[in-house]
Amino acid sequence: MADESQVSAEKLRSDGEIDASLRPRSLDDFIGQPRVREQLGLVLHAAKLRGSTPDHVLLSGPPGLGKTSLAMIIASELGTALRLTSGPALERAGDLAAMLSNLVEGDVLFIDEIHRIARPAEEMLYLAMEDFRVDVVVGKGPGATSIPLEIAPFTLVGATTRSGALTGPLRDRFGFTAHMDFYDPPELERIIVRSARILDVELDGRAAAEIAGRSRGTPRIANRLLRRVRDFAQVRADGVVTRQVARDALKVYDVDDVGLDRLDRAVLSALIRSFGGGPVGVSTLAVAVGEEPSTVEEVCEPFLVRAGLIARTPRGRVATAAAWKRLGLVPPPDLAVGGIEVRPREPHPNMFDEARRD
Ligand SMILES: Nc1ncnc2c1ncn2[C@@H]1O[C@H](COP(=O)(O)OP(=O)(O)O)[C@@H](O)[C@H]1O
Ligand SMILES: [Mg+2]
Repeated sequence: MADESQVSAEKLRSDGEIDASLRPRSLDDFIGQPRVREQLGLVLHAAKLRGSTPDHVLLSGPPGLGKTSLAMIIASELGTALRLTSGPALERAGDLAAMLSNLVEGDVLFIDEIHRIARPAEEMLYLAMEDFRVDVVVGKGPGATSIPLEIAPFTLVGATTRSGALTGPLRDRFGFTAHMDFYDPPELERIIVRSARILDVELDGRAAAEIAGRSRGTPRIANRLLRRVRDFAQVRADGVVTRQVARDALKVYDVDDVGLDRLDRAVLSALIRSFGGGPVGVSTLAVAVGEEPSTVEEVCEPFLVRAGLIARTPRGRVATAAAWKRLGLVPPPDLAVGGIEVRPREPHPNMFDEARRD
């Protein structure tokens, strides 16, 4: 199967330009994440009142939830330029030094996937974040000297899908951390309605809800599904997207009513039909469905876990009762999840009795 999964939260090549046109341009335009929006709004507003650069900001959360969009919004709310780079691009400290020394006062430096930054660049970043200074080492061996170099006050915005992989010292240098959560269906609906307006798609409200429910809590997926539905509507339904059109379209792309695609369902089916519901290792599962273990682990599994369909246990992956039911099967009565058998509860010991005993 060479086609790209429509429900991957990662950016696909086909997302390209449309993704850019659908990006919210201001905090007011940014739908959902009310806490992040309020807190970030205060940070930016206060900095503007003081006439100084705001604290460095760390945006953490799964792919497709709006981290890059927020970084762009921060720069535009501050009326400054955004300089964009990524952790993997900063392999040598020299690359970062060049970038930092080119900053103009107030610039926003956005480092995407900041958890993947190489160690020497990370260490250079400490001083840059703290004192707006870098030490450039000239020469080698005993004759090497380090020359301190002033850099313009700037705001670092880091984005990461794995904040746990950040070192303590780096994490501590961010004044403000925003944790992005998955979006709930009404928020996704509003995003879809907004995108439809921008793309000039005629969409009825129930169609928006239908797409929202299949978007895995992720705006990037919502926008992508909207585009697939639009294609279908243009070719087969006079361009108007009704709920039925949305359903028929998403059926063509194998996206089911909760957002599972063919691979997700294949994984569930293998887990239950070939391995009796588990526990089974993720690489064994991957072989069973003919996929790379990393795809199963990073694309399918997080959503299946979040949807309550599989559980990770020390001995491997286990299908939950909901997964059995999803495949139209009856879960075994002794279904064990997390290595703990689910049995009827024992009567609770009387707490006063417990207390009196000692
Ligand atoms: N809060 C939001 N409101 C509207 N659209 C959003 C929102 N968050 C994300 N999007 C859409 O989802 C797409 C992916 O967002 P992006 O910022 O690239 O995510 P991330 O960097 O976290 O992977 C954007 O192009 C934008 O169209
Ligand atoms: Mg991004």
